[in-house]
Amino acid sequence: MKTFFMVKPDGVRRNIIGDVVNRAEKEGFVITKMKMMQISTELAEMHYAEHAEKPFFNDLVSFITSGPVVAMEVEGDNAVLAIRELMGATNPAEAEPGTIRGDLGSKLEENVVHGSDSEESAQRELGLFFN
Ligand code: RTP
Ligand code: MG
Repeated sequence: MKTFFMVKPDGVRRNIIGDVVNRAEKEGFVITKMKMMQISTELAEMHYAEHAEKPFFNDLVSFITSGPVVAMEVEGDNAVLAIRELMGATNPAEAEPGTIRGDLGSKLEENVVHGSDSEESAQRELGLFFN
């Protein structure tokens, strides 16, 4: 199974791309596609469309477009759920030690990584980022 996984702009700025990728590879995932890119406002709004009505939507779009990201297609057993487990809770303050957000995350708005939250999201997001 494949999922969409991404190092967000805070992770790129903090030079922890390698740490994030290493954790995924150590967990047994295979990186099948990878690119550093700048997300446009249009792509950000499509990617986060589910949050369009939320009060934090504009800040979310500003943040995700604030610098380059590393977008990945990742393959592995039960990839969607397993990557979400490796990421940890959305808020780093609540994420378990040993997870990416628990060990490397600073705050809710800048939580290092994104991973698709369902198989449907994975297909949609892989299509948006890799066509
Ligand atoms: P992501 O989509 O980025 O992988 O994160 P997630 O599934 O764990 O969390 P989600 O509910 O999809 O929220 C997307 C991102 O929005 C930010 N957020 N801010 N200010 C707030 O109350 C708030 N709530 C969520 C987080 O940075 C989250 O990653
Ligand atoms: Mg999400």
